[in-house]
Order: sequence, then C-alpha cells, then structure tokens
Amino acid sequence: MGKISLIKEDITKVHADAIVNAANSALIGGGGVDGAIHRAAGPGLLRECKRIGGCPTGEARITGGYNLPAKFVIHTVGPVCSRRAGEADKEDALLAGCYRNSLALAYENGVRTIAFPSISTGAYRFPVERASRIAVMEIKEFLASRPDMQEVIIVCYGDEVFSAYKEALK
Ligand code: APR
Repeated sequence: MGKISLIKEDITKVHADAIVNAANSALIGGGGVDGAIHRAAGPGLLRECKRIGGCPTGEARITGGYNLPAKFVIHTVGPVCSRRAGEADKEDALLAGCYRNSLALAYENGVRTIAFPSISTGAYRFPVERASRIAVMEIKEFLASRPDMQEVIIVCYGDEVFSAYKEALK
C-alpha cells in the first residue's frame, strides 16, 4: 500500500506528480496556497483555469503544472466553515469530497505521487483538528483501494497544522 508522508514545506517546492491547490469556485487565484501556486506556476496556470471556468465546492479540476516542479495541479474547492449548528455534517462531507475527488482525478491522469495542503483550514476557517481527521481518513481509504498509488504527501505550512495532522495520523 502507498505511504502517507507528513512534511512542513511550501507546497510549490514539492517534487510530486501533482500538487493540490486550495482554490475558490471561480478558479481565479487568490491568497494563501492558491496565491503561492499561481505565483510559482506563472500566468499560464490562470489562463488554463479561466478556460475551465470554475469548480463547485467539493469537486476537483486538473491543469498543467507550468513552472512548478509538479506536472499537474489539482484544483479543489473546500467548504467555508460556517460554524452554524446543523451545517457541520454537510461541510464535513464536502471536505471529504475534496480529497476523494482530487485523488480520483489525479489517479485517472496517471498521477502516483500527490501533495495536499490542508484544505479549508486557512481563509475558509475550518477547524484543523476536524479537517485533518477527514483528510487522513479519505487518504487512507483511497490508498487501500489503489495499491499502485505510491505516496500522498501532506504538506503543512505551520507547526499547529503539522501537529494536528501528526495527531490525526496516529
Ligand atoms: N504551501 C503549503 N501550504 C500553504 C501555503 C504554501 N505555500 N500557503 C498557505 N498554506 C496553508 C495555510 O497555512 C492553510 O493551512 O494552506 C492551508 C489552506 O489555507 P488557504 O490557502 O487560506 O486555503 P483555504 O482555507 O482552503 O481558503 C481558500 O483562500 O486563497 C483563497 O482563493 C482561495 O478563496 C480561496 C480560499
């Protein structure tokens, strides 16, 4: 079964077949990891994103990697955490979909090593303890079902996120 690696790094530096972008539904770039990926990839990435036209929350779209070390970028749109009672199950399901759909789309395109940022835990304010458990569960499930997926790298950009994922991987 493929392995899950946990690293503290800038995802734009990661040498994997694909890196995942925490995008918005318009796919027009933004701040956070979205901004970092577009800056590192160059203008071609935004042009291809505009041709795609958008991506519903919970789904994923694939583009080239342009100037990034990665061959592909998988753009997925995480849920905004509303912290309203009764919304949590829907938000959890959408976030799980981000991981599942990103992995499936990458795999269909021949990707065998893929790097994820911590989707929705920045601007979209998803609690990282909750998000990391969902992420690890979906990644483990996918690796069990696709023995030839070699590695999923979880790329954390800070200590708090790193320790949350370390906990979730136990
Ligand atoms: N490498 C890896 N992780 C990063 C990087 C980077 N270069 N930059 C930020 N991160 C981390 C953040 O620390 C956070 O843990 O990515 C995680 C996701 O945070 P955001 O980038 O804010 O993404 P998200 O919470 O999903 O919000 C998406 O923000 O940038 C806009 O256009 C984007 O509207 C969308 C929204």
